[in-house]
Amino acid sequence: MTSFNAAMPADAPTGAQQDEAVPAAPAGPPEFALLGLPKPLVSALARQGIDSPFPIQRATIPDILSGKDVLGRGQTGSGKTLAFGLPTLTRIAGVKAAPHRPLAVILVPTRELAMQVTDALEPLGRGLSLRIKTVVGGMSMGRQIEALRRGVEIVVATPGRLTDLVQQGECSLSEVRITVIDEADHMCDLGFFPVVSALLERTPADGQRLLFSATLDGDVDKLVRRFLDAPVTHSLDPATSSVDTMEHHMLQVTRDDKFAVTAEIAGREGRTIMFVRTQHGVDRLVKQLARVGVRAGGLHGGKRQNQRSRILSEFREGAIGVLVCTDVAARGIHVDDVSLVLHVDPPMDHKSYLHRGGRTARAGERGTVMTLVLPNERRSAESMTRRAGVRPNRLRATPGHPSLAELAGAQAPSGVAVPVWEPATPASERPRREGGGHGGRRPRRFHDRSREDGREGSSDDRRSGGGPRGERPARDARGARGGSPSGRGFRGRSGPADRSGGPRTGH
Ligand SMILES: Nc1ncnc2c1ncn2[C@@H]1O[C@H](COP(=O)(O)OP(=O)(O)OP(=O)(O)O)[C@@H](O)[C@H]1O
Ligand SMILES: [Mg+2]
Repeated sequence: MTSFNAAMPADAPTGAQQDEAVPAAPAGPPEFALLGLPKPLVSALARQGIDSPFPIQRATIPDILSGKDVLGRGQTGSGKTLAFGLPTLTRIAGVKAAPHRPLAVILVPTRELAMQVTDALEPLGRGLSLRIKTVVGGMSMGRQIEALRRGVEIVVATPGRLTDLVQQGECSLSEVRITVIDEADHMCDLGFFPVVSALLERTPADGQRLLFSATLDGDVDKLVRRFLDAPVTHSLDPATSSVDTMEHHMLQVTRDDKFAVTAEIAGREGRTIMFVRTQHGVDRLVKQLARVGVRAGGLHGGKRQNQRSRILSEFREGAIGVLVCTDVAARGIHVDDVSLVLHVDPPMDHKSYLHRGGRTARAGERGTVMTLVLPNERRSAESMTRRAGVRPNRLRATPGHPSLAELAGAQAPSGVAVPVWEPATPASERPRREGGGHGGRRPRRFHDRSREDGREGSSDDRRSGGGPRGERPARDARGARGGSPSGRGFRGRSGPADRSGGPRTGH
């Protein structure tokens, strides 16, 4: 069984550390109300069948409500979105944002995650008259600008597009009271750090900052030291949630057998996510699976955003049972009832293992994580799972092996080829700024791809030279800092600074 504590090294971010002894649920009024959340929010949660807070929520909500800077670490699927979302909604309720000046910003690494966070918080914010807007690349910038001009209290954004809008003078961060950085350790990675810190510098220095992740490790210290004030750390023990309900298997396969074993696992009943290292690898596997009769959807940052969104929603709705993706879907993405995650290619590191695997066994559900390991990958896979705190079962897997059926429900696919599944995307859905707005252009197919990728990192949102499809942090965002006051940020209005031309992101 996993110990997710292994992902929290001794050099974890500074601040008051509170390893949780989570209090027992009291009887009487709704628990969310006892945590200090307002009635409309508690009622909206109840309407969704959410009556009792998860441990990370019980731990962090009171501190966030009291205005503290908070670092929250809870396992994948443990409810971190509501842990930062509910108190953020509460704290800004009752204040109307001026045009262009949101009161709270939630930064996330990918467009899909931004949309998901908006979808989770929007219905809850409605009862408090809060307006929420997703600000991400690959979607109509015009509509985002329109919303900002009308005024939105909360912006859920990827860093690249938000920087763009700030530099165009369409969004000022001068009134931001709360900044949330979800997947905070990832947002401290090389590609993201300059743009994330440049955005934070544009928020008022005395604003509240909340950093959350399942793997809130030492990297986060860079942000903590610069932008947080006496933060409280809540680091949740595995306790009773997802980890205990997750099974781990390492399948040793030969190169010759790898595809056949993958296809049998893809042929199972039940929702399955398969992680592949590169965009090209995703496209290739989707085609290979189609040839043997498995309809799978491919998701990666080389596709247009409307295709990405369609594939994910078809998977969510159950129209396709297998999602083949890069690490663009490794962080934060929640799809109900994903019962198996397969690492077709080994993850980049132990953190990627945990986040990819965390797409299953969420919110107390059961789930299975399998890793295909070629002979030459064995040692690195062993050390990776050790670092992840996981002790997987090991199995020499060959096609037709009865254990595959037993452990994964694997079954040989029909062998009758099906068409490669790719959603048709009407012209009107195409994002304006991606060259997709030329009516009549047919939907892009795999062979249309002018760009071939090499390795895709833990997110394609920081790719360079990849055209507009992946949300990318502004590579020249360091320049933006030149236009903002130095130090930990600044107080007061930032109009002129925000309206200066500044660097462009071009995604
Ligand atoms: N108190 C609760 N009661 C019931 N369900 C909840 C509660 N809180 C959250 N959930 C549900 O749990 C699921 C996982 O939540 P969420 O996506 O916030 O996890 P997470 O901790 O952010 O995971 P990750 O680390 O993968 O991003 C969601 O479907 C959410 O609606
Ligand atoms: Mg999350």
